[in-house]
Amino acid sequence: MPMQFARTEPIDGQKPGTSGLRKKTKVFQRPHYLENYVQSIFDGIGGVEGKTLVVGGDGRFFNDQAIQIILRMAAANGAAKCIVGQGGIMSTPAVSHLIRKRKADGGLILSASHNPGGPDADFGLKYNGPNGGPATEAVTERIYERTKTIDCYKIIASGGMDIDTLGLRSHQGMQVEIVDPVEDYAELMESLFDFDKIAALFASGFTMRFDAMHAVTGPYAKAILEDRLGAAPGTVVNGTPSPDFGNGHPDPNPIWAKTLMDEMYGPSAPDFGAASDGDGDRNMIVGRNCYVTPSDSLALLTAQAHLAPAYAKGLAGVARSMPTSRAVDRVAESLGIGCYETPTGWKFFGNLLDAGKVTLCGEESAGTGSDHVREKDGLWAVLLWLNILAESGKSVAELLADMWKAHGRCYYTRHDYEDVESDKANAMMDALRGKLDDLPGTEAAGLTVETADEFAYDDPVDGSRSTGQGLRVTFTNGARAVFRLSGTGTQGATIRVYLEQLETDPAKLDLDPAEALAPVARAALELSDLQAMTGRDAPDVIT
Ligand code: G1P
Ligand code: ZN
Repeated sequence: MPMQFARTEPIDGQKPGTSGLRKKTKVFQRPHYLENYVQSIFDGIGGVEGKTLVVGGDGRFFNDQAIQIILRMAAANGAAKCIVGQGGIMSTPAVSHLIRKRKADGGLILSASHNPGGPDADFGLKYNGPNGGPATEAVTERIYERTKTIDCYKIIASGGMDIDTLGLRSHQGMQVEIVDPVEDYAELMESLFDFDKIAALFASGFTMRFDAMHAVTGPYAKAILEDRLGAAPGTVVNGTPSPDFGNGHPDPNPIWAKTLMDEMYGPSAPDFGAASDGDGDRNMIVGRNCYVTPSDSLALLTAQAHLAPAYAKGLAGVARSMPTSRAVDRVAESLGIGCYETPTGWKFFGNLLDAGKVTLCGEESAGTGSDHVREKDGLWAVLLWLNILAESGKSVAELLADMWKAHGRCYYTRHDYEDVESDKANAMMDALRGKLDDLPGTEAAGLTVETADEFAYDDPVDGSRSTGQGLRVTFTNGARAVFRLSGTGTQGATIRVYLEQLETDPAKLDLDPAEALAPVARAALELSDLQAMTGRDAPDVIT
């Protein structure tokens, strides 16, 4: 076979511990850059000879070209087979499912998640392991080490392969199977949820808007919500994946999904609204006049999951990332099930799911999932909500009110300071870290600090320890502030400040969240001296 061994140079590759590599598209388009990273992945996982890989992406600019390079490199490296979503499209949870269903050796996902796409925006690539989940820290470490020393990669010289026609073909000694990206995933959803019940809900006149944000979930949502469940045509909007996401920002939160928010708070709001991100793993849930924070969504799904067939027997346990609000802890306690607090990032849930310790997990950043795959899953969360709405006969607002009455309400918000000079962001974190031991008992903006520490996680399954996972401060009035630096930003440093206030007084369950959180917001600024140390007087994004 015509094969090239291209000479190459080390790249500024994936940092250990992060899942995948995200860079500006133009960086990935530099000569040999993508090739270097792909070869580093292949080398880092011990080669791909004789292996089967699932390959798919969210359809953003450069997706199609990158897939061609990956396929040519997989063939040159001796892979037995690549299973590719038609047109190069497959959502992240669908890739995770297909890796598991086909017992593949792993998969490559082309996406920068909720970050914008286009020639001047972002691109990304990540490797998922045979369990369908993001690579472990040990694997990402090996991939990273390889990016620092790589000097050569293998690629076949041939031109493009047809990834648009379904079927199994052989290309230069490697099998390439082009599959419908939706079918297997839709079948999995049908096996988890009561589709008849949800269809009956739609048939009864229940209305919904699903904003696919011009990203990958459009075809999935249309096939499942409109075709299989009978939701009215037009339920799914922005449903065709576009290379630049309609020149938008495919991040399902009240800021970037503002059109949906306006509709849900407007005079003719549907009963239920939802959105998903670039690669389909995140979700936003909103009822009529009623936004659901991702932390509350996780708590509510935990409380009500038994209403869906797949979870009727109850949950083994739940897990949340550390900055996610503690609402789910209170639900888990009342259910008598385990509740794990893990560092930010989905990969930490993998071990717990594999070991059967948890059934549901979630993050404040709009990720919720279960043991059906090893990624967060946007459409899955939407369907579980629909199943619960159908079975309970209650509205989103009623379900939330019931939960708050039973367990109290965790008011919650996240303040992001973006593109801060790295030195300043690090100096702020260092200064706060340096005084954590002295904080308990002190006052800040009228609140008294109860505990203060830097979060470290001992994995109960493999015994590994992850340190430096964020600074947390709790207050005696039930408030909490968490500070951490983003690991996924593509420019400068992003400081995330997570604020939470537990309220159990029945008279105070319906406050304006910003008002309820104002004292802890002030305390967080006072303790961290963030404004003076970064020169920023307000967050760039509040979610
Ligand atoms: C962000 C989110 C985190 C999520 C990750 C990948 O990471 O905060 O919850 O797992 O994206 O989607 P961060 O930028 O905060 O490191
Ligand atoms: Zn995503």
